[in-house]
Amino acid sequence: MTTILVTGGTGFIGSHTTVALQQAGYHVLILDNLSNSSVQVLDAIATITGTRPEFIQGDIRDAALLDSLFAAQPVSAVLHFAGLKAVGESVAMPLAYYDNNVHGSVQLLQAMQRAQVRTLVFSSSATVYGDPQALPLTEDHPRSATNPYGHTKLVVEDILENLHASEAGWRIARLRYFNPVGAHPSGLIGEAPQGVPNNLMPYVAQVATGQRERVQVFGNDYNTPDGTGVRDYIHVTDLADGHVHALQYCLQARQDLLTVNLGTGVGYSVLDMIRAFEQASGKTIAYDIVGRRTGDIAACWADTELAYEKLGWRARKTIQDMCDDAWRWESK
Ligand code: NAD
Ligand code: UD1
Repeated sequence: MTTILVTGGTGFIGSHTTVALQQAGYHVLILDNLSNSSVQVLDAIATITGTRPEFIQGDIRDAALLDSLFAAQPVSAVLHFAGLKAVGESVAMPLAYYDNNVHGSVQLLQAMQRAQVRTLVFSSSATVYGDPQALPLTEDHPRSATNPYGHTKLVVEDILENLHASEAGWRIARLRYFNPVGAHPSGLIGEAPQGVPNNLMPYVAQVATGQRERVQVFGNDYNTPDGTGVRDYIHVTDLADGHVHALQYCLQARQDLLTVNLGTGVGYSVLDMIRAFEQASGKTIAYDIVGRRTGDIAACWADTELAYEKLGWRARKTIQDMCDDAWRWESK
């Protein structure tokens, strides 16, 4: 069996991708320091797939650990999810973000280089497009960052480009995710933010369960159909499937640097998502319109053609699927 190292594999996107990898026949080895996830995820994955992934609790910044891990068994590729991802926190704690996301990625890449493992799929973000100059966003749209988190993604994207240019044999996919939401349809794994959720959908889900009273809708004066922010929400299992396609693309290539959007190509507003969640949950979601959130953009959605052309992959699930599955997970 082909072994894939999944850093951050007990996290939200990593756990769903681990399920998809196992179902596609790969052996998964997870490395996660559990800073934002729980070891119980492994049991849930085992229940879904029938196989418990191999797990090492540890940090991507631990070079000795990485060397021993690569020495212990042949790893064919690395899917690199591990990192910190909260925009507001990154403004408050920039050094923690550069340390985890940039220094951590460099440590991982150096260990891969030592072990001669040169196949990598990296979690980038649509945040690298900054404020869109045109929609849909194509991969050649100029990049910019308005906060330290976004900047770490820009820097790692550049490091990967430099590395690819410097040494033959690297096969790298930089995947720019739009807004991942939803949960596995089993309701066994999903998104479990610590504290007050920063992102819209986990917040809406917690209002539906009664854990929080009202959603604050950040602005209804944007230049969008109903004035609220528009985003390209993608079901996390579609995203996971996109990773399997990207991995297979890399494993087949002689060498390549692929950069693709993973989105649906369709934008929905905050109010669209609240209504869809009301339908999924049968609950009324109370909300207030408040001022815009600093740093937010009006609208953002992906051009999905390159992902289809290169990977033969398209997202398939609807916002109703996303809300139904998120509700099943949240209400459990
Ligand atoms: P997550 O926090 O659920 O998962 C990240 C995992 O990495 C966690 O399990 C955490 O414990 C682990 N981790 C963090 N730092 C680590 C370290 N130094 N060593 C080992 N493990 C470490 O986040 P997610 O939503 O699954 O995101 C995964 C990746 O996708 C991140 O790189 C994130 O920036 C990127 N991304 C996420 C989104 C999103 O909306 N969720 C959007 C775009 C990009
Ligand atoms: C945010 C991050 C982005 C990151 C992404 C996924 C910011 C500025 N951007 O994107 O870098 O890649 O999460 O982790 O934080 N909204 C409300 N009320 C809420 C929460 C959100 O109205 O309580 C609105 C927002 O204004 C936006 C939409 O809902 O229009 C989606 O917000 P969110 O889920 O936070 O994602 P992004 O802002 O797109």
